[in-house]
Amino acid sequence: MKEHETDIGNKKAVYAELQDVWVSYYNKWVLKSIYLKCYEGEIVGIVGPNGGGKSTLLKVILGLVRPQKGVVKLFGHRPDKHTRLEVGYLPQISKADRSFPVTALDVVLMGLYNRIGFFKRPGNRSKEVAMEMLSEINMADHAEKPFGILSGGQQQRVHIARALASKPKLLVLDEPSTGVDSVAQEDFYELLVKFRDEMNISVIMVSHDIGVITAHADRIACLNLQIHYHGEPDSCFEPEIMQKVYGKDLNVMVHDSKCATCFKKHEHND
Ligand SMILES: Nc1ncnc2c1ncn2[C@@H]1O[C@H](COP(=O)(O)OP(=O)(O)OP(=O)(O)O)[C@@H](O)[C@H]1O
Ligand SMILES: [Mg+2]
Repeated sequence: MKEHETDIGNKKAVYAELQDVWVSYYNKWVLKSIYLKCYEGEIVGIVGPNGGGKSTLLKVILGLVRPQKGVVKLFGHRPDKHTRLEVGYLPQISKADRSFPVTALDVVLMGLYNRIGFFKRPGNRSKEVAMEMLSEINMADHAEKPFGILSGGQQQRVHIARALASKPKLLVLDEPSTGVDSVAQEDFYELLVKFRDEMNISVIMVSHDIGVITAHADRIACLNLQIHYHGEPDSCFEPEIMQKVYGKDLNVMVHDSKCATCFKKHEHND
């Protein structure tokens, strides 16, 4: 078995898999020899410093960034626009996205455009599906409100509904809890656990909040250019792993070993 592979010893399907994946931008490596697996019904958390390659890694899984080297499999195949239909993707969100003049329902309907085609008007059935998703996350009452006036936590729920609208087998979430208070965050992670338990959905999720992610993920990958740890959440607090991921400027505050905040710039990788 390769160094970064962790076999959880069951016969579950592997939804996403990277084998010795290397990615560079402008001749500079941003991902080096990445091995990662996500099984069905599993929540995988990815943590690491700014610029460590987390968003790039998600894009590789989705086939949006092509690695220079290595093998990427999504549901056993090379990722493309067809395999991507089985994935609900929530990209890292900027403030600008949040001021886009659309209703909450419109945002969820965007999650269905892949299936219905961008140039067709969504029919009643699509609207029903979108409303069902909004009900699932307790946001049906807000469907017709402009997205921009919703609170951060409500917007986050709507984004999740959008990612879930096409009934994906896998959710790929890039920092979904940015700008959300801790109560809304807790609700959100509970929602993900519910999706995993009730619908057997898998989740690959990037977060800066090591404490929250270790509390809810089944497995953690610690990434800074390379994967320094891929396994059960508990052991990722080992000082030597933290040191490798966040480097010598590590500033970690740990409360009851479940809550940590890390600040560190990306290590040099020339
Ligand atoms: N399209 C691109 N072109 C050139 N360089 C890029 C591109 N996208 C990302 N990079 C660089 O690749 C590195 C990894 O970026 P990435 O966005 O994957 O990091 P990240 O871990 O998601 O960071 P953050 O925590 O800040 O979101 C960074 O140095 C970034 O500047
Ligand atoms: Mg990112």
